[in-house]
Amino acid sequence: MTDALNIALNYAHQNADRFLADLKDVLAIPSISTSDEYKPEVLRAAVWMADQLRGMGIQNVEIMPTSEKGHPVVFGEWLKKPGAPTVLVYGHYDVQPPDPLELWETPPFQPTVRGDKLYARGSSDMKGQVIASLAAIESALKSGQMPVNVKFMLEGEEEIGSEHLGDFIKKNAKKLSADVCINTDAGMIGADHPTITYGLRGLCYMELRVYGPSKDLHSGLFGGTVHNPAQALTELVAGMHDKSGRVTLPGFYKKVRRLTPRERAAFKKLPTTKKFFLEQTGVPALWGEPEFMPNERVGARPTLEVNGLLSGWTALGSKTVLPAYAMAKISCRLVPDQTPEETFKQMQAYLKTKAPKTIRWELISLHDAGTAITDLNGDGVKAMSDGLEKVWGKQPFLVREGGSIGAVVLLQQYAGVESVLTGFGLPEDNVHSPNEHLHLPTWYKGIDALIHFLYNFGK
Ligand code: BES
Ligand code: MN
Repeated sequence: MTDALNIALNYAHQNADRFLADLKDVLAIPSISTSDEYKPEVLRAAVWMADQLRGMGIQNVEIMPTSEKGHPVVFGEWLKKPGAPTVLVYGHYDVQPPDPLELWETPPFQPTVRGDKLYARGSSDMKGQVIASLAAIESALKSGQMPVNVKFMLEGEEEIGSEHLGDFIKKNAKKLSADVCINTDAGMIGADHPTITYGLRGLCYMELRVYGPSKDLHSGLFGGTVHNPAQALTELVAGMHDKSGRVTLPGFYKKVRRLTPRERAAFKKLPTTKKFFLEQTGVPALWGEPEFMPNERVGARPTLEVNGLLSGWTALGSKTVLPAYAMAKISCRLVPDQTPEETFKQMQAYLKTKAPKTIRWELISLHDAGTAITDLNGDGVKAMSDGLEKVWGKQPFLVREGGSIGAVVLLQQYAGVESVLTGFGLPEDNVHSPNEHLHLPTWYKGIDALIHFLYNFGK
């Protein structure tokens, strides 16, 4: 087997430029899942992925619709190693919108290498990670001694909450059955710090609409007689936190699992210190629950964020208007054992008691994701940990992360498949932000680590 491992690693090194060319190719497709306008492009990315799998020799490749409205899952499998374990490869081929466009140094869908970085929307989150997984499997297949069976589930709705993935997994649980899922969407905490993530936060994404007068009014004729919806909305939003940064929704913390002294000790040892967060964010001072360290607040505490505000006149110049309407996009990151359903009800309860009689309001649920804690005792974690250690020369950090990936819980719940979460995206990659990029030396190390994983897991 070590011969095959070395052949696979050599193949990967010899094909390094081709892998990069493939990645640039798929990064040029603007597969933005959130807007209907880009639906054909999302489909084009699915077709690209399917063609790529077929080209590698993967069988039964299918572009499977998940619903009438949603984006499809790309499935494929290679099961020619009876008796060997089966690895399910997860990935998402959709990306976040690139806005604000004017802040990009090179266009988001014109992948550009500058120095040792590749710039494009999706380069780090997560087309780069998907191509790394495909490159590792192609290399293992080419060695002539593929150590495991593989299946692929590549989705196109991750960035908008994986709305239809639960039903898809339920319906196809047998087809997706595997000994482990590898999910490279969780990133790493630093280029020198290989990482396995064992916890992800959940999400409850809401839209709050506040209605005032039946139409926009002249602020001089009516100001002082009606409650301005922009003001009422921001008063409500301001009341959602107390002075110390705690969320005030009734019962919000009731189900939050307390951090054990052991967990707190582990957070303390991570290189993600206060200084790290100051450097990454560029803020003059940090904010949040004072009794927890910043990395605990991200990894293990729930939060409430305003993601967007809309009301009145926001274009150039001025307009003396008293707006009829105001809207806020608000999302809560959740930790075990909170649920999106309960959080939504807590927000409703907050609004019922706090909203003034002077306005009407409406709360809409946009999407959800469950909280996830993955099993650290499985063979998959051991195989990944050893693979990362081979390449980086040190054991990976085990962390709880603040982001959400719907598929992790859905695979646990509906198919009984545990995920091993890792990845080769870095905190400084500007994911979901202008000038997203991928650190290529780390990416290439990632491909090697995944090859090691496959041979470790096949043993
Ligand atoms: N790759 C991220 C999730 C992530 C980020 C995991 C950092 C661990 C560390 C993923 O693509 C993402 O951004 N997901 C969305 C999901 C949401 C829309 C349900 C998120 O977390 O905002
Ligand atoms: Mn992602």
